[in-house]
Amino acid sequence: MHTVAVLSLKGGVGKTTVALGIASAAMRRGIRTLVADLDPQGNATASLDPPYTDATLADVLENPHRSVLERAIAASVWSDDVEVLVGAEDLEALNEPGPDERRLASLSRALDELHDSPPRGKGYDLVILDCPPSLGRLTKSALVAADSALLVTEPTMYAVSGAQRALEAIEKIRDEHNQGLRAVGVLVNRLRPRSHEHQFRIAELRESFGALVMPTAIPDRLAIQQAQGACSPIHEWHSPGAQEIALTFNMVLAKILRSTRAGRHRIDADETETTGPIEAIRTDARG
Ligand SMILES: Nc1ncnc2c1ncn2[C@@H]1O[C@H](COP(=O)(O)OP(=O)(O)OP(=O)(O)O)[C@@H](O)[C@H]1O
Ligand SMILES: [Mg+2]
Repeated sequence: MHTVAVLSLKGGVGKTTVALGIASAAMRRGIRTLVADLDPQGNATASLDPPYTDATLADVLENPHRSVLERAIAASVWSDDVEVLVGAEDLEALNEPGPDERRLASLSRALDELHDSPPRGKGYDLVILDCPPSLGRLTKSALVAADSALLVTEPTMYAVSGAQRALEAIEKIRDEHNQGLRAVGVLVNRLRPRSHEHQFRIAELRESFGALVMPTAIPDRLAIQQAQGACSPIHEWHSPGAQEIALTFNMVLAKILRSTRAGRHRIDADETETTGPIEAIRTDARG
């Protein structure tokens, strides 16, 4: 079981979109996936549209026991292989800025339960943590529980400082709580390859973060919003824009799985993953 936290400290840059895109790529490969919705806004839960549960992630964080966890998990409308640890508005009350150590570890304890004895005997290969846009208890708990962290950013003026602060947060949690935590990369979302401004910002990100900036970016495409609105995985949305984005998410997933070798719980990663026509969507595309 590999656990990846998807974060940025800035709102609206595409964390949930990326979390869902990775889940969609995992579903396509038959990887059993749990999406944990740590955001009080509940956007990932809304898109995965599980049936009503009588417990949520808020209950799990308060009481990280197996019985509560099982009541807070439900199948998504996408597939039996993609399940949801349901988010709720109540999470907001738990998002205190400086939680004590014990409270920070409750998500990690709950996920360890899932690893040690999976519900209904079916374990997860991948757990995706969709974080809220802040660095309170919720995002910190995700970083304490994760094997890897994926930073999402838009190619805009504040991208470098936002990504820098997020990386510092990852380093702090690694030093203080979770030595196995790795930054898997900085993923640029909503790229318009013909925009000089976007290319400038990507060059800036590369200067600051080097190889950590992922070689492909997610382009700005209406298909993403359409697929989300229809509660459909992007891999099943049939438009050229959606297919291009699906290929990018395959690559992002492959990179996350490769980082598994250093994670707490290993799974077999397919290193021969095909990457598709990446030239069209490379972050250094000209035009
Ligand atoms: N590549 C893209 N192309 C087009 N629309 C996008 C793209 N990425 C995200 N969006 C849209 O932008 C909006 C914000 O995206 P999303 O909810 O994923 O961001 P977020 O970082 O999770 O936000 P929050 O901080 O509120 O949790 C959504 O309406 C989403 O559909
Ligand atoms: Mg979100």
